[in-house]
Amino acid sequence: MPEISTIVSSRLYYRKMGSGPALFLLHGFPESSPLWRNIWDELSSSFTLFLPDFPGSGESILERETTMSDMAACVKEIADHEKLDKVVVAGHSMGGYAALAFAAQYPEKVAGLSLVHSTTLPDDDERKKNRLKSIELIRKGARTTFVSQMVPNLFSEVFRNAHPAIVAEQIEQAMEIDDDGLVNFFKAMMDRPDQTKLLDTAVFPIQWIAGGQDNIISYKKILELCHRSTTNFVSYYEDCGHMSMFEAPTALAKDLHDFCTYCYKSA
Ligand code: MLT
Repeated sequence: MPEISTIVSSRLYYRKMGSGPALFLLHGFPESSPLWRNIWDELSSSFTLFLPDFPGSGESILERETTMSDMAACVKEIADHEKLDKVVVAGHSMGGYAALAFAAQYPEKVAGLSLVHSTTLPDDDERKKNRLKSIELIRKGARTTFVSQMVPNLFSEVFRNAHPAIVAEQIEQAMEIDDDGLVNFFKAMMDRPDQTKLLDTAVFPIQWIAGGQDNIISYKKILELCHRSTTNFVSYYEDCGHMSMFEAPTALAKDLHDFCTYCYKSA
């Protein structure tokens, strides 16, 4: 799999698979590119997929503080390296914040933007306070406690009770991110700007994926935002939590496929 040296990290690793127009899939927190493993086979028959590991996760090295804007720069550097013109970028949660930063910084590169359980809104004070508490916990050496409490909460109650092995596997993957990596992602999320204005000026289609049981990004907040731009695709999965790639993979793959097909037809 390719890796490149960028201004952000001297080893930025990404997976590349399939053929067809480019679709970037950006992982959330605390995850890495295998987050998308349940749907990458399906999508790679129609699109060339690019799945970076953001610095501090997977195979990519964290060498300095990496902001959301730096994560967007990683995507841009991969697109340039691959000589891609316009691309569709789909981001899960934190990956959606990075996708929004990419769209804000490089609008000319965007054929479409898909926000999978994500939001344009910044952290509110309560959320920032909780992030600081988590950082403190991690710095005190309680990473295992933090991860094993946080990850199950990403899934709906029904799903996590029915599929403990999948939840355990995600906990294991999250444990591969070291303390500095976790803290860096927290800081990047806390400091991210409000990107809501982008919705009013976006010339590209925007997709919103919302889970009715999502404890992290409430579907109600998504529904308040999702009609602001000119061309919107909205999917609501009633029984799903924050992790549709595990909880509703068939629906997610189809919706991403249809959105991406539309974006390239209308670009
Ligand atoms: C994620 O799933 O990427 C994070 O939980 C998002 C967040 O904490 O804001």
